[in-house]
Amino acid sequence: CGIVGYTGSRPVKDILIEGLKRLEYRGYDSAGIAVEGENGLDIVHCVGKVEGLAEKVADRDMPGTCGIGHTRWATHGRPSEENAHPHTSCDSRIAVVHNGIIENFAELRESLIAHGHVFTSDTDTEVLAHLIEDAYEGDLLHAVHSATQRVIGAYGLAAVCADEPGTVIATRKDSPIVIGKGEDGSYVASDIIALIDATRDVVILGDNQFAKLMPDSIEYYKEPGERFEPEVTRIDWDVDLAEKGGYPDFMMKEIHEQPRVVRDTLAGRLTGGTLTIDELDLSHEELNLIDRVYVIACGTSYHAGLVAKQLIEGWARIPTEVEVASEFRYRNPIITPTTLVVAVSQSGETADTLAAIRDARVRGAKVFGITNVVGSPVARESDGVIYTKANKEIAVASTKSFLGQVVSLTLLSMLLAQTKGKLTTSQIKLLFKELADTAEQIETILSDTTAIDEAALACKDACSSLFIGRGLGSAICAEGALKLKEISYLHAESYPAGEMKHGPIALIDEGFPVVAVATQSPTYEKTISNLQESRARGAMVVAIATEGDTEIKKHAEHVIYIPKVRDCFSPITASVPLQLFARAIAVARGCDVDQPRNLAKSVTVE
Ligand code: G6P
Repeated sequence: CGIVGYTGSRPVKDILIEGLKRLEYRGYDSAGIAVEGENGLDIVHCVGKVEGLAEKVADRDMPGTCGIGHTRWATHGRPSEENAHPHTSCDSRIAVVHNGIIENFAELRESLIAHGHVFTSDTDTEVLAHLIEDAYEGDLLHAVHSATQRVIGAYGLAAVCADEPGTVIATRKDSPIVIGKGEDGSYVASDIIALIDATRDVVILGDNQFAKLMPDSIEYYKEPGERFEPEVTRIDWDVDLAEKGGYPDFMMKEIHEQPRVVRDTLAGRLTGGTLTIDELDLSHEELNLIDRVYVIACGTSYHAGLVAKQLIEGWARIPTEVEVASEFRYRNPIITPTTLVVAVSQSGETADTLAAIRDARVRGAKVFGITNVVGSPVARESDGVIYTKANKEIAVASTKSFLGQVVSLTLLSMLLAQTKGKLTTSQIKLLFKELADTAEQIETILSDTTAIDEAALACKDACSSLFIGRGLGSAICAEGALKLKEISYLHAESYPAGEMKHGPIALIDEGFPVVAVATQSPTYEKTISNLQESRARGAMVVAIATEGDTEIKKHAEHVIYIPKVRDCFSPITASVPLQLFARAIAVARGCDVDQPRNLAKSVTVE
């Protein structure tokens, strides 16, 4: 979900709408704004995208210069006008926008109803508005503070009160809030991207901190009466990162940024044959002692972890498990002081991943974060962090971030192997060079997508599909299938190729798409046998294969060639045609590539 708020000298309506458009990738099933007016707050809600809200308020007279807005991804209560934020107190004098989840909302709601409060939505957020109303005695900061004392859960929130014109109060716990002072006023948002046009100097609010925004100043509080001076972070990315730059959608733009992501992620990592990742903050001795690795993540980031497992075990010979964070945190993993937990999270704020990190640290593990967002909770709460150099990713389905994660995890795997003496200096040098070469190889793939587009057109009307591969190919397939599901709604299942005969082969009939990663690898021949088995049952095979492999044409209707790379780097190159394949199918099916239904870019709820 996305939060935006402003108080200053300009009319707030358009500022809120623009901010919400920037944030829309984070959730988009309903939206709303609250603007201060002469006779109280003017509140407008709309189901669906921000564009609908923009149309609804276009001709509405809203001259106010202070307000808050929200774009929602439903947790409690279906998407509807009643459930859209901002939510208000009984007298509609107080309005709140909120990200996160109030875990004890049911009991709070009951007790508020017993005290005469009337609720109009099914959301957990509405209790915040009523709690603030309950505590309000002429000072919004006090009231927000005392409301948060009664709440269990995660929140990033902004509130306004008609009795205190020109003031916005913001606070957070486990859900991001950033604050910035622009020339014409003060801004708050849940993501820097909504502020970046106004200022490059932002304050990333910490848990349980409060900000009081006024047109000319911002005050920061640990609690009412206890002010502090916050640390200011300078944002150095370009404004045009938030624009499509001539591409039809953000996903296409981000796919094309991947050669740069590889180059930037590798820059400065190798000196004289030695790999260094200073940010890890662990001594050689500590690294050398590591005898077990868990990679924990969700979604696409989990698939980057599947690649890491094979590389860490293959090179460094350290037993490695990959686990989705929501499972890891609820079982009893074996963790000792020599266990390394690698948390992979593009946003650095995924609730399950964060909770898993906290749990792992309590149990004594060392935690490394791999994230794309500087200063994010995952970065702050890890012992060391590697920043992927993907830069802001807007399309909900992750592409360049995934690639940045895979490259970073490849580096980490090499570093562990170097530390353990399993790779020599000359091997590291050679591998590093080949790793760096993948940037150019991706450029080659991007320069001609004809075969990918043709294969996509042939598959676009299918109802289901199977992705098969072996070894690293199997990890890539997991990501390829997820991408296709996410953006085209075409069902896709990924399976290790050798396991196909134990079940999924029953799905195959005439024209059923089987997408195979069949690049040169030690198991190439075995994968070919699986293609034969598929075709014998009528499958339409789409194969990702290594340039020069003419043999494969006998086993596939569509062959997508990619440059030859060492098998360990195939995840970096082979992922790219699968991303393009998913996108081409989604476009052919008329789907919204950047904002697929029901998904959100970052999931800060469990
Ligand atoms: C959401 C996004 C996915 C992402 C996952 C994990 O589900 O839609 O694209 O892979 O969260 O996000 P993270 O920020 O932790 O990598």
